[in-house]
Amino acid sequence: MLQTGPELFEERKRDHIRHALDDRNQAQGLSGLDRVRLVHEALPELDWDQTSLAEPCLGRRLSTPFYVAGMTAGHGQAPILNDALAAACEARGWAMGVGSQRRDLERAEFGSARDDWKSLRARHPDLVVFANLGISQVIGATDQDVVRAIEALEPQALCVHANALQEAIQPEGTPRFAGALDRLARLCRALDVPVVLKETGCGFSARTLERLRETGLAAIDVSGLGGTHWGRIEGARAPLQSPRATAAQTFADWGVSTAESVLNARRALPGTEIWASGGVRSGLDAAKLIALGARRVGFARPALEAAKDPAPGGLVRWMETMEFELRTALFCTGCATPADLRGNEELWTVSTG
Ligand SMILES: Cc1cc2nc3c(=O)[nH]c(=O)nc-3n(C[C@H](O)[C@H](O)[C@H](O)COP(=O)(O)O)c2cc1C
Repeated sequence: MLQTGPELFEERKRDHIRHALDDRNQAQGLSGLDRVRLVHEALPELDWDQTSLAEPCLGRRLSTPFYVAGMTAGHGQAPILNDALAAACEARGWAMGVGSQRRDLERAEFGSARDDWKSLRARHPDLVVFANLGISQVIGATDQDVVRAIEALEPQALCVHANALQEAIQPEGTPRFAGALDRLARLCRALDVPVVLKETGCGFSARTLERLRETGLAAIDVSGLGGTHWGRIEGARAPLQSPRATAAQTFADWGVSTAESVLNARRALPGTEIWASGGVRSGLDAAKLIALGARRVGFARPALEAAKDPAPGGLVRWMETMEFELRTALFCTGCATPADLRGNEELWTVSTG
């Protein structure tokens, strides 16, 4: 029998972390980034010290264009993990998304995490942080419910996540998306905080992005195919040989690659800020996405892995590596800043083979 209520909710969140760390649930090799090459500049006309990763985020100064993409919330270990991520992000000038705050919308059933968010914000007053809710939940909520769910965190933006494949395959899924576009537009008008629409690993087609033109989004986080794959994860959670488990295999490569999603966003939503996540696994991947047009680049599973590294300083060392690699890519393309690289068509090529 399926469990219901808070126990199931907690268990699902723990399952998600475990399965996300299993390589079989990564759409490795499908991000499209292997085919993108940056153009080497043998004479950069720059000293290393003249390069800088600084990139403002929604009006706030930040020393990198990186963010940890929304992950964990709603289970017992979440505050500890979030605190470790928040401390590292605040120290290194990364932004950070939190995981779905659904529990704070449906608190009568699950109990609120409001106090956890309050204390996260109190301990990290300078952190640039993004709240997170799913579109399926937002559709059924009032604007006031949304404000109440996120206000304790005092976020710089609300990321609304779209996860159609996950909701379809998840045994306890809520695949309710009718009215999503209209709800998003109303939310953007009603809220004081900027709204960002994000996928969760299946990306965006040009057709979807065109429909978003008049919505009033502050940014789009394409979160494309190439990394953590929620169809695979929910398939791994479904009973063996059940229709959901089989369908998950059929849909194992479903989605629009991260590279293609960024190019789609650039064409379909000129003027809207593009954030790129989904299968970003190095600072060089990040540089490629910036060259394709992204302003910010996000990591989920690699940040989780680094945060769970038992070696002291593992998370910060991983962040320094991402920064160093991005800076190397800037230097070797002759760019002083991410802005010099961003969307610069002379600095990247795509192999067709
Ligand atoms: C353990 C885990 C939990 C996640 N939970 C959420 C979530 O609650 N809300 C959300 O918008 N995205 C969530 N994501 C998706 C990520 O934000 C990101 O879009 C996706 O994992 C692709 O990035 P990656 O390939 O670097 O992991 C989660 C990812 C992981 C790994």
